[in-house]
Amino acid sequence: MSKPVAPVQEQAAEPKAKSSEPTAKLAASWYIALRASTLGKKPVELKLFGQPLVAWRDQAGRPVIMERHCAHLGASLADGKVVDGCIQCPFHQFRYDNTGKCVHIPGNGTSVPPLLQIPAAAQQTTYVTAERYGYIWIWYGSRAPMFPLPEFPYAESEKSSYRLLTFARTAKTTALRVLENVFDPQHAVSLHSMPAVSIVLNVHDDWREWPEHGAEALAQADAWFGASYDAHIDSYLGSVGALASKLGLDAREMRVRLSYFPGGGVITMIINGEIIFRMLTSITPIDVHETEWHTTFAFKKTAKIWSDAVNFVVFGLQTKATFLQDIAIFSTLKADGGRFFTRYDEGVLKFRAFYTKWVHKTTLDHLNRRSAEPASAFARS
Ligand code: FES
Ligand SMILES: [Fe+2]
Repeated sequence: MSKPVAPVQEQAAEPKAKSSEPTAKLAASWYIALRASTLGKKPVELKLFGQPLVAWRDQAGRPVIMERHCAHLGASLADGKVVDGCIQCPFHQFRYDNTGKCVHIPGNGTSVPPLLQIPAAAQQTTYVTAERYGYIWIWYGSRAPMFPLPEFPYAESEKSSYRLLTFARTAKTTALRVLENVFDPQHAVSLHSMPAVSIVLNVHDDWREWPEHGAEALAQADAWFGASYDAHIDSYLGSVGALASKLGLDAREMRVRLSYFPGGGVITMIINGEIIFRMLTSITPIDVHETEWHTTFAFKKTAKIWSDAVNFVVFGLQTKATFLQDIAIFSTLKADGGRFFTRYDEGVLKFRAFYTKWVHKTTLDHLNRRSAEPASAFARS
């Protein structure tokens, strides 16, 4: 069942919300750690959740993400190397496996053998990862993931039928301020110059009525937020409108489906009843006020090569242009989200309530987490 939340009519009550909502806290979720293509044989230095981390690949090529500074005397493992499927510290060459356990401490000379009894504290904190859709994902908030990654087969099993376009930019604001933007219909007109006659945002609370696949597993874990826009527009979209109309494109009826989890979502763009593209979007929470915003567009290849090319160029350009307008605003946003709200903010406030529920489900506070304690005693072999 869907509930219209922002119809264009007068007399709607203003939503009640407090300015002290925890907009700076991070929800338990999957997030993008890095593009998969940037992680090869060498360790890569990362900062996520305000923490210095390192990413590397184990013997099977699986991505490992662990705290960057060695539990021994604190050297950066990002300056180390992968040896026998373990990461080797550049300082005393201790090695850690893909679970973070220290598995090798060399001796200090040819006549001094490796230490066989390795201290229990010789352990690096590691995170759950998954490599899908061209990204390496990291789970934040609890030891084990509480819900699966969203389905986006267009960049995986069905990849050969789609033309993909990826894009990312960093903004100086919190994760939530980036994520909630898509549920703000008013800025589509005021900031992105969409020539809309009306835009109605609907929030969907029943995944069984969702027309695209992929909502079920998220919904069953209470981690799905479904919404859609119905927009009537009186000429083609925004800043590339002139180009679009020259190319003979006409977009009067626009429907946008938003199938979200706390850390991102899948957006489907439908123009005049036809799906134009799907887009996977998520974020990299680098620090409390530093967030990288990622998107992967998937345009279906059809027999109409000319119209495919036009859609790819026009929608790619248009969405990139709006993305950059958003980034410029994000970088000056106040994290607490303002002092008052209007009925047009109802979509943002409903997403905030959903997101905040997942903030409260975090059981590990990585933002304030300490590294492993120093070893209390030497162990001898
Ligand atoms: S600091 Fe890493 S092995 Fe000593
Ligand atoms: Fe926007």
